[in-house]
Amino acid sequence: MANTILVGAQWGDEGKGKIIDVLTEQADVVVRTQGGNNAGHTVFIGKQKYILHLIPSGILRKKKICVIGNGVVVDPVGLVGEIEGLRKIGVKVNGNLYVSETAHVVFPYHRELDAQREVLKGKNKIGTTKRGIGPAYGDKAARVGLRMIDLVNAERFKEKLEAKIKENNEVLKAFGAKPLSFKEVHAAYRKAGDYLRPFVTNTVTLLHESVRRGDGILFEGAQGTFLDIDHGTYPYVTSSNTTAGGACTGSGVAPNRMDRVVGVLKAYTTRVGEGPLPTENAEIADMLHAMGREFGATTGRPRRCGWFDSVATRHATMVNGIDDLAVTNIDGLDTVETIKVCIGYRDGKKKYDYVPNDIEVLARCEPVYAEFPGWRTPTHNARSWKDLPAKARSYLKAIAELSDAKLFIASVGPGREQTIFV
Ligand code: GDP
Ligand code: IMO
Ligand code: MG
Repeated sequence: MANTILVGAQWGDEGKGKIIDVLTEQADVVVRTQGGNNAGHTVFIGKQKYILHLIPSGILRKKKICVIGNGVVVDPVGLVGEIEGLRKIGVKVNGNLYVSETAHVVFPYHRELDAQREVLKGKNKIGTTKRGIGPAYGDKAARVGLRMIDLVNAERFKEKLEAKIKENNEVLKAFGAKPLSFKEVHAAYRKAGDYLRPFVTNTVTLLHESVRRGDGILFEGAQGTFLDIDHGTYPYVTSSNTTAGGACTGSGVAPNRMDRVVGVLKAYTTRVGEGPLPTENAEIADMLHAMGREFGATTGRPRRCGWFDSVATRHATMVNGIDDLAVTNIDGLDTVETIKVCIGYRDGKKKYDYVPNDIEVLARCEPVYAEFPGWRTPTHNARSWKDLPAKARSYLKAIAELSDAKLFIASVGPGREQTIFV
C-alpha cells in the first residue's frame, strides 16, 4: 500500500474509522498524528461496535502496528482505559501499539480549564468535547507542557507536576473553580505512567525504519478539515492541524514520503458543536435523528445536519491535496425525494465559490443549491457500483466532480462488507 494520509473533508465524524478499518487490510502501520480523545472513530465488525478515541482504528486487525504520534495529545488515564476496554473484548494490545515520547500529556487542569472557558464564553461557546484539548495544545505552544517522556520518568514527573498543579490551581481559583489535589492527580498519573511505560518509545525513528522497509503506512486523521486550527471556521475549531500537513508534523514522516491523500466525507453534512454550517437543515436533521443516526460517538450529542456542501468539500480538496474520495452514509439519503447540493454561497449581492474567511460573513451566507432526484431505494445491500441505483450513481459522480477529486469508495452502511470500491 502507498503511504496514505486519510483526512476528514467536512466537520468531523465523516466515517473515518470505518474507512480506516477497511484500508488497514492493505496497510502495515496505522498512525494517529493529531487530536486526542476528543475523537470518536466507530468501527463495526459484524455486530460488535468499537469506538476508538486515541488508539488507531487499525488495532482491530491482526498483525498491524499502531502508533500514537508526537502530534497527538494523550490523556494517559483515558488511554489506559481504552487499552483495558479493548483487551476486555478480546482485542490484542501488546507489542502492536506504540506511543510517542514527545506526545504531550493532557491533565485534569486542562479539562477543567476547557470547561471553565466554555462557561465564561456563554453563548459564544465553542461546544468543545471538554477533553482538555485546547488547553493542552495551548501549553504545548507556550512551551510549558509535559510530554510522555516526562510521565514515564517517575522522579522528573513528580517535580514537574508539582509546579504545574501549583500554577494551574491559581488559574482555576481565578475562575472560581475548585483547585486540584496534587496527591490525587500524581497517584492517578503515576499509575497510568507505569502502565504505559512499555508502550512509550521514539516513534519517529520507528516510523522511519518502517518507511525504509517499504511498509505501507496509513495516517488516520481525526476531526475534519473545517475543524482545523488554521483552515477551519476559527474560533469554532479544534486546536490541531486536522488537514493533511498535520500527518507530517504529527508523525515526523516527511512530505516527500507521502504518496496519496484520501478524503472521507458523508453524502450529506454534519457538525457537532457550535459555529457556522451553511447548509444546516432541520428537516434532514429530524429525519436522520429519527432513524437513530447522527449522535456523537464521544459525547452522545445530537449532530447538526445539512445538505452536502460542495463549496466546503472543494476547499477541502485544495488544502489537503485530496486525490481520492470515500463517500459514506449514502444510505442516509435513501428515502429523500429531492436531494440538494450546495454549489455556491450568497451573502446579499455577493456570491462566493470558496469558503470566506470572515466567520461573520460565512454565518450569513445562504447556500445556492442544485437539486438531484432521490433514488428512494434501500442501498445497504449494494455490494458493487452496478448494484447502486442509477440516480445514486449520478449523485455520487456529481458530488465527486464538484469536490474536484476522484470517487474511490462508496459506503452504504457501517459494516466492512458495505463498502464499494469504485
Ligand atoms: P469518524 O469520527 O469520522 O470515524 O466517524 P464517527 O464514527 O464519529 O461517525 C460516523 C458514523 O457513521 C458511525 O456511527 C459509523 O458507524 C457510521 N457509518 C460510517 N459509514 C457509514 C455508512 O456508509 N452508512 C451508515 N449507515 N453508517 C455509516
Ligand atoms: P472525530 O475524529 C466531530 C469538535 C467539537 C467542537 C470543536 C472543538 O470523531 O471526527 P475540542 O474538544 O476539540 O476542543 O472541540 O471540535 N470536535 C469534533 N467534532 N468529530 C470529532 O472528532 C471532533 N473532535 C472535536 O465538537 O465543536
Ligand atoms: Mg467521530
